[in-house]
Amino acid sequence: MTEIPADIRERPIILVEDDRSSAAVLRKVLERSGFERIEVTGTAAEAMKHLVGTGRTGESRAALVILDISLPDRDGLEVLRDIVRLNVPVIVYTDREDKQVVRECFESGAEEVFVKPGDLEVLIIKVKQVLVKDNMQRTLLRTTRRNQKLFLNILQVMAKTLEAKDSYTRFHSENVAKYSRQIARRMGFSENEIELIQIAGILHDFGKIGVAERILNKPGRLSEEELQAVQKHPAIAGAILDPIEELGDVINWIKYHHENFDGSGYPDGLKGDEIPLGARILQVADAYDAITSRRPYSTARSQDEAISEMIKCCDTQFDRNVVSVFVEILEEEQRKRAERKEALARSKGQRPQ
Ligand SMILES: [Fe+2]
Repeated sequence: MTEIPADIRERPIILVEDDRSSAAVLRKVLERSGFERIEVTGTAAEAMKHLVGTGRTGESRAALVILDISLPDRDGLEVLRDIVRLNVPVIVYTDREDKQVVRECFESGAEEVFVKPGDLEVLIIKVKQVLVKDNMQRTLLRTTRRNQKLFLNILQVMAKTLEAKDSYTRFHSENVAKYSRQIARRMGFSENEIELIQIAGILHDFGKIGVAERILNKPGRLSEEELQAVQKHPAIAGAILDPIEELGDVINWIKYHHENFDGSGYPDGLKGDEIPLGARILQVADAYDAITSRRPYSTARSQDEAISEMIKCCDTQFDRNVVSVFVEILEEEQRKRAERKEALARSKGQRPQ
């Protein structure tokens, strides 16, 4: 006999059945099997009300829905799909035996289809199995999310470690991550790739951990030898991060974020499409933040100046496509800022004295 953990029992089972006698029989069988929290409703509208009201974790309050798809107020399959979208498992309880309906129920996300009248003891076994499986999936999802958060936190700690050593990179990695994410989203990267480029942005200069502090914090120009030491940072990052398999493409994006489009960059002198797209994005984001921030060797320049500089260096340093996407984003933001300012000024002027 499958044991149901107490925390699942605390959440109600919603029984959506407009036939009162059938609902009463099923309720009794469920109660006899140890399920105390059963809520019965006869319509789709009411059923949806029973499902909302989320807890701390954002989950529906219901543990399971047993759904008769012949409902008086809405198409049962549509209701089934709405419930599945709320991440609540559904067992369809129906007297429509034809294969087409059963197939559609499964296609719409039902965990099980139980044809009436059937053996209700079998239905109870299915209820327990579905609840246990759903609980396992939720536990697994929570653990995965916790691990992902832990992984990201460790990466943040790594980036902060570098900031402690190189005071000028403070906020720089966050800015590069933000701009890279915006460009990647506009260029049609998937959500997963956008998350990866965010990580790459945060860690892009991590290799500076292997460069002497004296050089990193030196005010004024660097000697040729010092410059060579700084230019080792992408390759150092590549070597340090290489064993972290989970980083995948991120490692090469970081390793090649100082390659130039015409092949004049470092560490490997890659050219054009040989440079991974993620690296070309990081490079543009990195350059923009460097131009618009105050550095030991330069003052901060305006957005317009940074845009002109980036356009000037298209095809030599930067990928023209990446620059044009980023300029589009920056100009859109500029337009929105101006509109907000104008609206604010207008509302002030209109305010009654
Ligand atoms: Fe860098």
